[in-house]
Amino acid sequence: MTIRNLCFGVIMACSGILSLQAQTSQCPIIPRPQEVRYAQGAFQLSDATCYRYSGGQEAREAAEFFVGKLQKDMRISLRKGKSKTSEILFCIDKTIEGDEAYRLDISDLRVEVRAKTGAGLYYAAQSLLQLLPAEALGNPASASAFSIPCQHIIDAPRFAYRGVMLDPCRHFLSVEDVKAQIERLATYKINHLHWHLTDDQGWRVEIKKYPLLTEVGAWRTEGDGSRYGGYYTQDDIREVVNFARRHHVEIVPELEMPGHEMAAIAAYPYLSCKGEETTPRIIWGVEDVVLCPGRETTFTFLKDVIDEMLPLFPGTLFHIGGDESPRGEWATCDSCQARKQALGYERESQLQSYVIERIGSYLAQHGRRLVGWDEILEGGGLDTSAIVMSWRGEAGGITAARMNHHVLMTPSSHGMYFDQFQSNPSVEPMAIGGYSTLKKVYSYDPVPAELKENGRAHYVMGVQANCWSEYMLNVGTLEYRLYPRALALAEVAWTQPENKDYADFERRVDNEGARRLHYMGAAQHIPPVEQEGACLDHVVFTDSAIVRLTTVRPERIVYTLNGQTPTAASVTYTEPLVITKTTDVKCAAILPCGLMSPVRTIHYEKQSLSETARTGKLRPGLMLKKWEGFYASPFRLEANKCSEVKHVDRIEALRLQNKRNNAMRGLADYAAEVSGYVSIPTDGVYEFATNNVLLWIDGTLVIDNSQLTTPRHYINKGTRALKSGLHEIKVVFLGGIYNGWPSYWDDAAVKMRPFTAEGTNNWQ
Ligand code: ACM
Ligand code: ZN
Repeated sequence: MTIRNLCFGVIMACSGILSLQAQTSQCPIIPRPQEVRYAQGAFQLSDATCYRYSGGQEAREAAEFFVGKLQKDMRISLRKGKSKTSEILFCIDKTIEGDEAYRLDISDLRVEVRAKTGAGLYYAAQSLLQLLPAEALGNPASASAFSIPCQHIIDAPRFAYRGVMLDPCRHFLSVEDVKAQIERLATYKINHLHWHLTDDQGWRVEIKKYPLLTEVGAWRTEGDGSRYGGYYTQDDIREVVNFARRHHVEIVPELEMPGHEMAAIAAYPYLSCKGEETTPRIIWGVEDVVLCPGRETTFTFLKDVIDEMLPLFPGTLFHIGGDESPRGEWATCDSCQARKQALGYERESQLQSYVIERIGSYLAQHGRRLVGWDEILEGGGLDTSAIVMSWRGEAGGITAARMNHHVLMTPSSHGMYFDQFQSNPSVEPMAIGGYSTLKKVYSYDPVPAELKENGRAHYVMGVQANCWSEYMLNVGTLEYRLYPRALALAEVAWTQPENKDYADFERRVDNEGARRLHYMGAAQHIPPVEQEGACLDHVVFTDSAIVRLTTVRPERIVYTLNGQTPTAASVTYTEPLVITKTTDVKCAAILPCGLMSPVRTIHYEKQSLSETARTGKLRPGLMLKKWEGFYASPFRLEANKCSEVKHVDRIEALRLQNKRNNAMRGLADYAAEVSGYVSIPTDGVYEFATNNVLLWIDGTLVIDNSQLTTPRHYINKGTRALKSGLHEIKVVFLGGIYNGWPSYWDDAAVKMRPFTAEGTNNWQ
């Protein structure tokens, strides 16, 4: 039996004032203020400092926010009142232009904070807090006074909308987790939280008139039989909205329609065209079963739900989704076809527009503005008041602005999808795909050149990053994906392009920024060490190996070769290492502020070429064994009764189920194994990759994907030194749905190529 080789992707010292350029390069504030002018001297902040405010409740709230933070985070208590030697004044000043603009005047005896609104004062307070050392957050007793350099800051945002989207549908986030992100994001002047509350995989908002939405629609039975879910009560929502309001964050709720509504349909099957009983979707991707726009009951439902949601969300924006809604079911539904005929429509896409238009006017009657993903442009007739969120690249946003729509830019192509990888996928937790580095996020300009050229730049209201949570199984992974990219987003959204400077931003992130995130208790991405070329955890060599280490953005790398865990005091990597015996290279990146990435252990193993197999008489093909049922672990399958043994001609025969079954419902899960021989053309080290769960060569486990949260992307590779000739191969496949990923979506192939450490990491 043989398988063939498989596939082979101005200091101008004028009265002590420094030039703007020289000054802002020392400024730690993120996002970078529009203008900072330094003066000589410093303000001393201590328990002796007094504060006061003028301008009513807005000024009082901002002052109390600032004083509360100082007390809570740094144990410094300011007294309310006047002081001739150390005071901070928060002042509503209607002469300042711009609702969120502020001025911060720090002189040696007094800090004066001025803004037109409470939001502006709040942002000034956030900037002032960032002028205090982040360490004080972690060790409040470390200082009893802080010295803040005298300076004058004039600041205002570039965009009115600065947003982040959270998705508790795929993986739930507790009220406390959501509030924690709101507080951290507000530190960086993010002012909108788009809360994606309904989707195929879970309905997350209590609607009293439709209790089954949460009794049924909030819970799914996963592929492994476990129950997953959760929802927010209306009290929970009020708590989050009030908390957000105190941080000047508007919550934009999203109620998806007409697609991405399987959880609601599971609760109330009459909402779909066929009315069939169903369950919330347990796999990722796009669901074919959607709301029926033909029946009035669908609109009664949507309006009832909106009626309960509106009082919970007092903001002006209401997101109705509108993305990824297949129209197949509408084509064969009597009600949909009757509606289409009655309205003289020619295309099903017009039914989608019909839903958006009806709900848009209902929202308008209640004083709200509709926001939708860029598909809401399809079918035509979109009211110009609708705001289009451009996610499929920038095209939707450009088209919409040409049609006089306001737009929000959130293109997956330009780094705004924080569910994408942020460094080499081989060293990252599983992500959805794509690549969105800190630099890519920072480099994004939300106003496309075409809109600048044709005078339509003002239609761009702002920018948003999306944290779709298919691959954010817990809040730690969400934070790892969100920070520090959200800080880059904040600067994209707030700072005028001419004041942006990536190198300076990186300096701020790697120092005060990372430290502050750390003390705020947020997980964050500190670039893990990568190998240049082939990035593997286990590298086989026969003679010697050269180790070239790098990070996605330049950081100091430390390493050990003696098995000890590296620390900041370990040897700094400066040049490629030559390894001549089996060695564990333990390495980590250290930020200038001292925070360290996760430690990677790379096992370099010296092997002699594995002997070829002793074979008897062979015939073409492989042996396949099958076991019925769902298996959480690929080990010890043999302890179970095998249901089938047969000859197959390809490894891909492991995948016996239909890949095209969209919902993957009713499939009988199974485990399978193929064994046979692989023909190695010449002596050497070979690299293997597979989405299958285990790969054995000559009885040695070369790939073990059983620890991956989701078995995909050919992420785990293995190497083995082999003599030319036939070698035993055994591959194990587990058929089932693992954390939303049906292994049946994979091709079950094994890829093999001669290994070179300099080789590409990409199999495509
Ligand atoms: C989307 O990512 N489906 C808006
Ligand atoms: Zn229908």
